[in-house]
Amino acid sequence: MYMNERFIINGLGGARKLRGSVAVSGAKNAALKLMAASALFGDEVVLKNVPDIEDIKKMAELLVSAGAKVEKTGTHEYKISCGKDFTSAISTDISKKMRASIVLAGPLLARFGAVSFPHPGGCVIGKRPIDIFLDGFEKMGAVVAVGEKSYDMSVASGVLAGREIFLKHPSVTATETFMMAATLAHGTTTIKNSALEPEIEDLARFLVMGGARISGIGTTTITVEGGGLLSARGKSYSVMPDRIEAGSFLILGALAGERIEITHCNPAHMESLIETLRSAGVPIETEGDTIRVSAPPLSSLRSVDIKTHEYPGFPTDIQAPMVIFLTQATGEALVFETIFEGRLNYTESLKKMGAHITMMDPHRVLVKGPTLLEGKTLESPDLRAGLAFVIAGIIAKGSSVIHNVYNIDRGYEGIEGRLSALGVDIVRVGGDADVLAGA
Ligand code: EPU
Repeated sequence: MYMNERFIINGLGGARKLRGSVAVSGAKNAALKLMAASALFGDEVVLKNVPDIEDIKKMAELLVSAGAKVEKTGTHEYKISCGKDFTSAISTDISKKMRASIVLAGPLLARFGAVSFPHPGGCVIGKRPIDIFLDGFEKMGAVVAVGEKSYDMSVASGVLAGREIFLKHPSVTATETFMMAATLAHGTTTIKNSALEPEIEDLARFLVMGGARISGIGTTTITVEGGGLLSARGKSYSVMPDRIEAGSFLILGALAGERIEITHCNPAHMESLIETLRSAGVPIETEGDTIRVSAPPLSSLRSVDIKTHEYPGFPTDIQAPMVIFLTQATGEALVFETIFEGRLNYTESLKKMGAHITMMDPHRVLVKGPTLLEGKTLESPDLRAGLAFVIAGIIAKGSSVIHNVYNIDRGYEGIEGRLSALGVDIVRVGGDADVLAGA
């Protein structure tokens, strides 16, 4: 992996000729939490269907930095032991770079009674506060000291106390954090107004496999009876499919597929996107873990307004690919990003490709179509917008260069290989060749 790698894509210029089958990876946002939850187990945890992506490598490094034994036993399999050498001393450098490192705070505080955390980093998608986490930890008995560079949390008795926690906002990672922390707490924790994202259910099922007592899984009130360390002896857990990756392939198919089949996914997790695309004129068939899609003629794609929402509403993580879709649909669509401020900034770059997009305010853009996009050089600002740029490059006329591929590798495994297999003309350049050439 080299920071200066880029993708060069020769666009289809509006042709609809991608064909074939693409298998969806395990979900990044589930796998990261399961790895963090390994800190709640006294013995070895075996995780399967883990995507081979940069964020997962970072989480593995983070666990190793705290003394965990992390073994990659297959392309998609990890064995993780948080045994006697395991501590709460995670690497500050790594956690600063990855927002998801925050999900380790709960398990570590619960296991060791104290943890120090730098302000978490991650995507450039606006303000991402952690007040809900700090409030909840305090409710469970932790004292939080906010230092210049870190948050230092400790529990006088050494063990968190089960409490009732109402989330003022149904935050995904906060729900997961308290669910994990509560498994080792004294007494019962009730998390109210919890988020409903399927990744939370995946985590809950993993914890239950290890002996955790959790009820209300898949609802907005989750109750956890605390107990001792979990155990996974003789068992393994397979990560759920990535609904965001599956959704991105679906949008690509809706724009450029002669016929594309998306396998190893769970269409039940994608209802909002599927219904939205159908209402925009895209024929979609689902059967078991497979979705089939073909791009209809351009003239039959209709604009639809989009409002991102917590699950089961329209996912913020699929908003950027959807904007690419809307540049090809007839009419004007309002895209309202309700979850993250700053998550529409990438649309400025799409204007360079000829897209008609007007920013109304940091949360809303108007997209007018259809426009045949023109290939350009773009820089991927975060993983979701990065993949959206790749989709834009694929449907555009001429060639596009997408810089900062690292951001795409954070969340999508071997994306160029899987796209090439569908007929996309995409190559990765840079790294070795440029280093040798002194570029
Ligand atoms: N929020 C607060 N205070 C907090 C925590 C969150 O105000 O203490 C606010 C946020 O600022 C935001 C809203 O709550 O406005 C929702 O954020 P949430 O906490 O639900 O998001 P997250 O847990 O930080 C996860 C995913 C994101 C995904 C969102 C929404 C992981 C590691 N990340 O983030 O994924 O966009 O849920 O579904 O699970 C991505 O994968 O590209 C990504 C950004």
